[in-house]
Parts: sequence; C-alpha cells; structure tokens
Amino acid sequence: MTTRIHVVFYSMYGHVYRLAEAVSEGARKVVGTEVSVYQVPELAPDDILEKTGAKAARTAFAHVPDAKPEKLADADAIIFGTPTRFGNMCAQMRNFLDQTGGLWMSGALVGKVGSVFTSTASQHGGQETTITSFHSTLLHQGMIIVGVPYSEPRLVAMTEITGGTPYGASTITAADGSRLPTENELAIARFQGRHVAEIAVRLTR
Ligand SMILES: Cc1cc2nc3c(=O)[nH]c(=O)nc-3n(C[C@H](O)[C@H](O)[C@H](O)COP(=O)(O)O)c2cc1C
Repeated sequence: MTTRIHVVFYSMYGHVYRLAEAVSEGARKVVGTEVSVYQVPELAPDDILEKTGAKAARTAFAHVPDAKPEKLADADAIIFGTPTRFGNMCAQMRNFLDQTGGLWMSGALVGKVGSVFTSTASQHGGQETTITSFHSTLLHQGMIIVGVPYSEPRLVAMTEITGGTPYGASTITAADGSRLPTENELAIARFQGRHVAEIAVRLTR
C-alpha cells in the first residue's frame, strides 16, 4: 500500500518553494510513499506581480500544478508551506483553505497528518505565530499535527543565524529577499518531510 504525501505551498518569490522542494525530498526518502507537490493559486493582480519582481521569480516554479481543495482528500498527510504576512499565513493560502468547507462537512481530512513550514523576511518576524495559527485550521479539520522534534539537532544551531522551529521548518529571506534558504534550514525541511512521511506510513499500515 502506498502512503500519499501532498506538499501544498504558496510562494511569491521562491523561498517557500525551495523549502517545499526540500520537504518533498525528505518525504520521498521514506519507502512506500508517493509525494505530490502543488501550489496554491495566485490572487495578486499581474501588474503588481510584475512591479514587485514576483513574476520573474515565479517562473522557477511555474511547472508545479495548482492545488485543488478536493484533492486534499486523496492524501494521507499534507504538509503546507506559506510565507508569513503580518505574523500569519498569506491570503492565497487562507483563500485556498476557505474552500475546504466541503471537506470539513464530510470529515474528509479527519485523522490525516498535517504539518506546516514558513518563511519570514526578518529573524523574529512571526514564524511561530504563522505556523501555530495555521494549526488551528488543521485541528478544525481533525488533522493530527506534526512538527519538527528536537531529535533534529540543527534546531539548536548557535553558530549561525538560522530558521527552523519545533513547530515546522522555516527560512529567513532578508527584507529584500536576497537571503536564500541555508543548508541548515534545508536540512530541517528535509527532516520535516521525512518525519511526517514516517508517521503517515505508520498510520496507514
Ligand atoms: C504584506 C506582507 C506582509 C509581510 N509580513 C511579514 C511579517 O509579518 N514578518 C516578516 O518577517 N516578513 C513579512 N513579510 C515578508 C515575507 O514573509 C517574505 O516576503 C516571504 O517570506 C518570502 O517568501 P517567498 O519567497 O516564498 O514568497 C511580509 C511581506 C508582505 C508582502
């Protein structure tokens, strides 16, 4: 039996996309899994994306298919990635989740594993609040929340500035978006993918 892991992300400039790739890589390492990656549809108007440079950045992941709310029911575990907006998930992700009322009505996500990762511009810009407030939606859907346990020693790295929280993987982009996920952050994201997949496999056997 195959355990199906979905990685569902929104990214404007590519940082969350890079974490999504690392999360997927980690999940794929677990025998018996099938990992699918989806992106949440864009809501921002084209001219704004053009002005902010997001349009060019988004070509790097234009090949990733759009997420569809009803497809979440096919997964055994869903790992969500969102940039932080004012200490919360982005509107694109919120809009996507607000289309899962039908899944909530039928209890389609009850008992599935849910996990979240994020990025912020600044070091203390709200990574934990984004992830833990995201968890409320997953709990309403009856999902089993999984984070990143401290058995991942990179969470306590003190020799460099790094993202990575026990609630979920994260990266820091800098105000101009110039900082890309570091190897430490990518390794934590891979750990999260593998950890979620291992738990999902155990729950589906
Ligand atoms: C409207 C808006 C609100 C934001 N709020 C925060 C914030 O609360 N804290 C923070 O550190 N960064 C904030 N940022 C920066 C984003 O988190 C950053 O651009 C994002 O993590 C980059 O991820 P991406 O490359 O995947 O789009 C905000 C950006 C925008 C456009």
